[in-house]
Amino acid sequence: MRRPLVAGNWKMHGTRASVAELIKGLRHLALPSGVEVAVFPPCLHITQVMTGLEGKSIAVGAQNCAVEPVQGALTGEIASSQLADAGCSLVLVGHSERRLILGERDEMVSRKFAAAQSCGLVPVLCVGETLEQREAGKTIEVVGRQLGSIIEELGVGAFVQAVVAYEPVWAIGTGLTASPEQAQEVHAAIRAQLAAENGEVARGVRILYGGSVKAANAVELFRMPDIDGGLIGGASLNADEFGAICRAAG
Ligand code: G3P
Repeated sequence: MRRPLVAGNWKMHGTRASVAELIKGLRHLALPSGVEVAVFPPCLHITQVMTGLEGKSIAVGAQNCAVEPVQGALTGEIASSQLADAGCSLVLVGHSERRLILGERDEMVSRKFAAAQSCGLVPVLCVGETLEQREAGKTIEVVGRQLGSIIEELGVGAFVQAVVAYEPVWAIGTGLTASPEQAQEVHAAIRAQLAAENGEVARGVRILYGGSVKAANAVELFRMPDIDGGLIGGASLNADEFGAICRAAG
């Protein structure tokens, strides 16, 4: 049985004051014990969040990591070893905003995935298609390529200690959520692609849905057999809304 995971990706949002407010709200949440909860603050605020959430069962992750696993001469980057040292337990890799805006390619994503795992971090591999790709009927092909590049590079066993997040680009930040059926179809294809390599790994890996998840649509989405939780953007910046989404996964 896969333990649901609900993770809040704060993206490039937050000041010290607003982060302090959000921490206060998160500390007051009554969270379901059967759901793993995590937040991904901007790197700048990780230590503040880590300290502020001490004693609360909310894991802290990073939104990105360097391709090199350990510290060194790589200006502006943060190594997985440093993230682990700061107390992070997960790291997003391959978020569509980094793929599309910053040009991150599959090869770089798999290096980051490997770097994170080499430092004991759980990589959350983000995959998803654009509206054009969906309208061209290429959704499964695109997501399959993104997933396949990790399998080819690192082997399917790499997913024993990893999470996959399916985030249709056209649903991110748009309020246009994928229907439960649309999301389930892609989640099932992801699990089938992993199962073709190793059934046990496929059964164990958690596949999150991300893309305009709100408290109002979370229950229907999380009811789907291959949706194991959510990667929440905008709604995670409101502690009460995020708490309601966590409870929907319980
Ligand atoms: O990583 C989660 C994010 O991409 C989803 O954003 O605002 O559509 O929930 P949002």
